[in-house]
Amino acid sequence: MRDKYKLVGPIYDWLSAFYSGKSIHKCKIAMLDRLQPGDKVLFAGVGHGRDAVYAAQRGAEVTVVDLSETMLKKFQANLVKEGVALNIRQVHSDIMKVEEEERYDMVVANFFLNVFHEDMMVRVLQHLIRLGKPGARVVVGDFSFPTGNVLSRLVKTLYWYGAVGFFWLFAGNAFHNIYNYPEWMKKLGLRIHEQKHYKLLLLNCYWSVLGEKPA
Ligand SMILES: C[S@@+](CC[C@H](N)C(=O)[O-])C[C@H]1O[C@@H](n2cnc3c(N)ncnc32)[C@H](O)[C@@H]1O
Repeated sequence: MRDKYKLVGPIYDWLSAFYSGKSIHKCKIAMLDRLQPGDKVLFAGVGHGRDAVYAAQRGAEVTVVDLSETMLKKFQANLVKEGVALNIRQVHSDIMKVEEEERYDMVVANFFLNVFHEDMMVRVLQHLIRLGKPGARVVVGDFSFPTGNVLSRLVKTLYWYGAVGFFWLFAGNAFHNIYNYPEWMKKLGLRIHEQKHYKLLLLNCYWSVLGEKPA
């Protein structure tokens, strides 16, 4: 299978820091302080995975899944860089082929669902919810749905199209408008617990949304 991140994978984290400063990283770890040692956490489409390393350092039992070998190599390099022995299970697979229903206390989709067209995004989100135990938390970190006055919505939308256009061109990701994740999470049966926003140039450009599956 073609590795869509062969070209941009090696510089993915650098690009995200260039585009957002520290905001994207802060968004990715926003809900992880809720983890208890021993909690089982799944990171879907983990990429370089500094968020997953952070979770493992807090004592969580971490599984990471990614379809791209390039991304998983960068993830392994990150682990080595941390210089600590962290026991993280790495799965090189399409997330839709991971059949571990009701196994996880928390499922994290950071900047992952945006790679899909909307109908597929909904199917992937549904699948991620299935992988959580009853009462599990499901975290989606991503570009936030544009709100505010006309100018603020315009700037946020243009900012998003800069990113989605780049990854459409260089990774073959879907090209689409910003998804309203909390709305989809609610439609799929999750209770929204909390939303944290992260700013770039005074605008709320990113959010981390914490949903809870019915117990
Ligand atoms: C935009 S990157 C986000 C990476 C990381 N979560 C982050 O926040 O930086 C999307 C990631 O999802 C992975 N991916 C795309 N489709 C996938 C699939 N069907 N199953 C598993 N991983 C997938 C890509 O290889 C890539 O690493």
